[in-house]
Amino acid sequence: MAAEGGGDHQPLESTLELTTWQQQQGKEEVTEHLLKIPDDFDGLQNNSNSNIMQQQQLQKRSSSAKISIQSLERVVELDNHILTGISVDIQAGQVVGIIGPSGSGKSTLLRAINRLWEPPGDSIFLDGEDITKLNVLTVRRRVGMLFQTPLLFDGTVADNVAYGPRLQGKRLTDAEIEGYLRQADLDVSFAKKSIIGLSVGQAQRVALARTLANQPEVLLLDEPTSALDPVSTRHIEESVMHLCRSTGLTVIMVSHSIEQVKRMADLVCLVVAGELIEVLKPTELVCARNPRAQEYLRAAQQQ
Ligand SMILES: Nc1ncnc2c1ncn2[C@@H]1O[C@H](COP(=O)(O)OP(=O)(O)O)[C@@H](O)[C@H]1O
Ligand SMILES: [Mg+2]
Repeated sequence: MAAEGGGDHQPLESTLELTTWQQQQGKEEVTEHLLKIPDDFDGLQNNSNSNIMQQQQLQKRSSSAKISIQSLERVVELDNHILTGISVDIQAGQVVGIIGPSGSGKSTLLRAINRLWEPPGDSIFLDGEDITKLNVLTVRRRVGMLFQTPLLFDGTVADNVAYGPRLQGKRLTDAEIEGYLRQADLDVSFAKKSIIGLSVGQAQRVALARTLANQPEVLLLDEPTSALDPVSTRHIEESVMHLCRSTGLTVIMVSHSIEQVKRMADLVCLVVAGELIEVLKPTELVCARNPRAQEYLRAAQQQ
């Protein structure tokens, strides 16, 4: 696989600037995702790579789920309950859609799974291990994330794809970069292009290729196509579905579109006011019994 970069692997954050069309909030999000630890994170010292003994002592949970979420809570400002008692098991290779009204906590739930905020201990497990006990950057590599707006660094498409491995001291070969571009449904001729001038759909596929270059086991997608036209939307959907089939990637995707969830998901989680009120197969959405779920689904179908 990727060759070692030798002495020439200075972090790209010093040499690459985010493009001007990226919003400040997004800039913080992508750098935080790739480089930094959460603001409310206080456990890094105890979770460094060097602390192998502690890692080895981690109790594995008996659940065989790829991601297991157990009674996850998010409370801010003393008494503001953003997430309440969320529990769900997600099996390896599943595509899980998360839907619900705006402001119901979908992004907050997704962001907990790769520790963009620090969830309480013993509430999220990756292959049976409490994610808060693992090295945070390892979690971010194993659990990749794609945001609503593509966030790219200045430079070429290849610079962007090579970014994550390079942070680990690995230099991707041209062939490897082209492989990730193909996985994201981009022609290999894009590798040498500047990211300036890419359409938003192309930029989102570059962002997908960059995420894939970290070889994640789980992919988190937060409304990844809501800024895209229908053709670009289908490109992203098909790339993700192809990856799932060919590599067994586990996908957790927030979507505003019931139709998209029906096209892609094996399982649908309906989140309303911070609670997971229904977990259904896409074909069974009409069977939702919770009145709040019925109300949301009725309104969403009419959109
Ligand atoms: N750190 C925070 N502090 C205070 N409120 C927050 C914080 N994070 C999210 N919220 C609030 O939590 C609610 C859920 O947000 P979010 O997860 O973004 O919802 P969704 O993705 O479903 O639209 C919103 O009301 C949002 O304003
Ligand atoms: Mg959201």
